[in-house]
Amino acid sequence: MNAPSPQNQPALHELLAFYLEAGVDEALTEEPVDRFAEMAQIRSASASTSAPGPSSDRRPQTGGAFAESSSTNPATAQRAPFTAAVPDEAQVQLARQLASQASNLDELREAMAGFDGCNLKFTAKNLVFADGSPDASLMLVGEAPGRDEDLEGLPFVGRSGRLLDRMLAAIGLDRKSAYIANVIPWRPPGNRTPTPHETEICRPFIERQIELVNPKVLVNLGGPSAKTLLNTTEGILRLRGNWRAHTTASGIAIPAMPTLHPAYLLRTPAHKRLAWRDFVEVKMKLRSLS
Ligand code: URA
Repeated sequence: MNAPSPQNQPALHELLAFYLEAGVDEALTEEPVDRFAEMAQIRSASASTSAPGPSSDRRPQTGGAFAESSSTNPATAQRAPFTAAVPDEAQVQLARQLASQASNLDELREAMAGFDGCNLKFTAKNLVFADGSPDASLMLVGEAPGRDEDLEGLPFVGRSGRLLDRMLAAIGLDRKSAYIANVIPWRPPGNRTPTPHETEICRPFIERQIELVNPKVLVNLGGPSAKTLLNTTEGILRLRGNWRAHTTASGIAIPAMPTLHPAYLLRTPAHKRLAWRDFVEVKMKLRSLS
């Protein structure tokens, strides 16, 4: 881009304001950079200099996140010896297998940290696994981490998180007496909506996480969480306020309350009263089950 002239500065300001609004929060370079290819080069370099072990075994086997060229020498393999591939059904299968093999939350976190089948992992800074107490009676599941969550590696720590804290306080709880996670554990770039494929790849992990926590009550924060975990295509405004069940792989039905996402409530404060009603329902359910 040429240096801005005094004439086009207002237009540049408008463009920047538009970028900010659209969720662009990182300044990159003038040329596109293929980060997936870079990651693959780094991985390939460390795999070829270290003994084979769990990390070098992690590359997807068939049609995975990365298709490798014949050159693995980082010195000769400059740009684009690798191309990012759309993760396929094999990755969903692998996620299912890893999730089902995890016999506790620590193992699950480790399995997720080592899983390379979801491209979101390569643009995120951190795995956002969970916050709160694994012994909690209440588990809340959102959609995906945003910028603040990605930086801290914890769910719901930004603006929506502060509202969620207030919602929990309204029913006598806090984030230490609940367990909080997301359907997608890696921040989608620019906070874009996760694709259906990314959701399918991550679904086995959150389902296993719910099964391992085994809460008395589940709260689905927003439509994507409700649709993914309650097996429905209905919109959140219809779903909210009505008890559903999330059924685990072992057949346990956990009462689930779909409610409005805190980010939506920040944009639509008039609907906070609906979420308040849902949280009162949750409080009563927890009381009746204790
Ligand atoms: N929105 C979500 O759905 N999850 C978070 O962790 C933060 C914002």
